[in-house]
Amino acid sequence: MDEGRKEIDPYEYIDHFMSRAAHVVSMDNNGQINVMALLWKTIGELWMIPMITIAVAPSRYTFELLTEGVREFTVNIPSKKIADTINITGSLSGRSVDKFKETGLETIKGKRTKVPTIKDCSLAYECKIVHSCQSGNMASHHLFFGQILTAYASNAII
Ligand SMILES: Cc1cc2nc3c(=O)[nH]c(=O)nc-3n(C[C@H](O)[C@H](O)[C@H](O)COP(=O)(O)O)c2cc1C
Repeated sequence: MDEGRKEIDPYEYIDHFMSRAAHVVSMDNNGQINVMALLWKTIGELWMIPMITIAVAPSRYTFELLTEGVREFTVNIPSKKIADTINITGSLSGRSVDKFKETGLETIKGKRTKVPTIKDCSLAYECKIVHSCQSGNMASHHLFFGQILTAYASNAII
């Protein structure tokens, strides 16, 4: 099925990745998914592994899912068409609201992860958590290191 995107090398389009907020999708042990807006992220090779590192505050429901749920996440850079949804996923909590219903965001089944990616995104990455730690004195956020299992770019930006 043509999803309007192609698999890419994870290090392609890094400028695009770094300059935009992302939707991060996580999943509980019953398969329920949540999505939150995230700006603090980095991408690059670490321990000889292609990696995305995300900074998530312990107060987020996403933090609970990343630590106690499925040890995977996806990072999705919204296209212009769905850019406004960042305001919703970044202000409501999945503890009390189904943000997929609220935003109308649609998912695409993961190829290498149980956690899905999001439709209409310019870039998307399927990641497996290989390490996490506190960020120390910099901020109260925890860092989650996700091995990039596969990455996609929309036909529109290729
Ligand atoms: C543009 C934007 C960027 C954000 N970046 C981050 C971030 O990097 N890390 C973080 O912990 N929260 C960040 N937030 C806040 C969370 O998205 C917000 O608290 C969200 O409601 C948490 O949802 P959850 O409780 O469903 O996980 C950001 C919010 C916005 C609007």
